[in-house]
Amino acid sequence: MPLYAVVPAAGVGKRMGAEIPKQYLPLNGRPILSHTLGRLLDHPRVGQVVVALGEEDGYFDALPESGHPRLKRVPGGRERADSVLSALNQIEDDCAWVMVHDAARPCLSHADIDRLLAQSGDQGGILAAPVRDTMKRAGADGTIDHTVARQGLWHALTPQLFPVAALRDALTRGLADGAEITDEASAMERLGWRPALVEGSPANIKVTHPDDLRIAGLLIKE
Ligand code: CTP
Ligand code: MG
Repeated sequence: MPLYAVVPAAGVGKRMGAEIPKQYLPLNGRPILSHTLGRLLDHPRVGQVVVALGEEDGYFDALPESGHPRLKRVPGGRERADSVLSALNQIEDDCAWVMVHDAARPCLSHADIDRLLAQSGDQGGILAAPVRDTMKRAGADGTIDHTVARQGLWHALTPQLFPVAALRDALTRGLADGAEITDEASAMERLGWRPALVEGSPANIKVTHPDDLRIAGLLIKE
């Protein structure tokens, strides 16, 4: 089975509040995106990697991976789902499968990729982590309305693995319907798909706030 990877990297990193998009901030001496692309390009099962970049990206060319023969760049879009769709539209092999992985998750391990590939079924699958804390539903005034049962709740991570053609169709329809699509699985679920939840390492964090950068710096050394 041919396997592609798509990396949405067209965000601006508003919550990080840095002067440059967060995927280009240094982590252990290399930009975050360099770690992310390296982990995917180095995996023996991954063929081509398609990365979606922001319109005015002036940083990508300086990455060590920018000229890699199996790496292709495309313009991203307004929302994450637009960026992913733009990358999927460049994949001509409709029989292939694709792993979509956030640029902002540089601590992805090959063991996690292997588990996702092994444990996803014909409905695809996503890496996920069981919720560990007690969950509260807030009322309108900011006090606790009630406690949500933690049993069966998972954090959705990436990569998320699906057939290229089905995911392209699901994202196209989801965007046309104005649905809220926060990850690939949500676009598939609304069409009745039942993707597998594959337990991934909690170390595969998304660098979102400045504190995460410090934590990722420790995790990436492991
Ligand atoms: N992303 C993208 N295209 C967009 C928005 C986001 O490719 N229009 C990518 C980001 O670059 C990131 C991933 O989607 O790798 C996950 O999004 P998020 O963590 O929200 O990153 P940003 O949107 O950049 O951050 P923020 O929401 O704080 O602005
Ligand atoms: Mg965002």
